[in-house]
Amino acid sequence: MVEIKAFIFDLDGVLTDTAEYHYQAWQRLADAEGIPFSREENDAMRGLARRDSLNVLLKGREIDEATAQAWMVRKNDYYVALLSKISPDDLLPGVGDFLAAAKADGLKLGVGSASKNARPALEKLNILSLFDAVGDGYSVVHGKPSPDLFVWVAGRLGINPAQGVVFEDAAAGIQAAKRGGFYTVGLGDAVGEGATIRLPNLGGMRPREILARLV
Ligand code: G6P
Ligand code: MG
Repeated sequence: MVEIKAFIFDLDGVLTDTAEYHYQAWQRLADAEGIPFSREENDAMRGLARRDSLNVLLKGREIDEATAQAWMVRKNDYYVALLSKISPDDLLPGVGDFLAAAKADGLKLGVGSASKNARPALEKLNILSLFDAVGDGYSVVHGKPSPDLFVWVAGRLGINPAQGVVFEDAAAGIQAAKRGGFYTVGLGDAVGEGATIRLPNLGGMRPREILARLV
């Protein structure tokens, strides 16, 4: 039997509800530019890098490169303003206890987030020091649904993908993890089918229950 040695967490929508702030920031940009956009469409952006998210927003509209860059800067400025207000109170239900229990059980902990704002977010949540490896929007070239980011984190943790469990709220993230050969836990309503285990959130969940259900 394979021994699970590490848990790797997506950030936005898994550890904290910054997925909502990414949505609000894109919505503000879309409204200002007269582009129809909705919360449902935003679910298709979950887990995608900033540039890939812009392409989803544009829905085939063509803009020049300078405009694309300027729009991404504006979206990020809106997002960073929202992010500046988060604190340890903004961890999603059960996350603090779950991370502490996983560490106590001897598991290595990693983060695999597409976001270039992942490190400041983890600092604001006061959980950065819990993680043995943090992969973010600067770590790899090909973002989710490519497996590269999670494989990069696994390498930093010194595990094989088959020894790791990825926690994700995004369909693109589950796809990435499965392509990399990881076990998967899908969280929330937007994650779709495909994860080995699906849960509403980590509230009341113990790492050992996850392990018992996976292997
Ligand atoms: C996360 C979020 C996405 C976001 C991406 C890039 O994966 O789920 O919604 O677009 O990170 O974030 P960034 O902060 O670099 O724009
Ligand atoms: Mg996410």
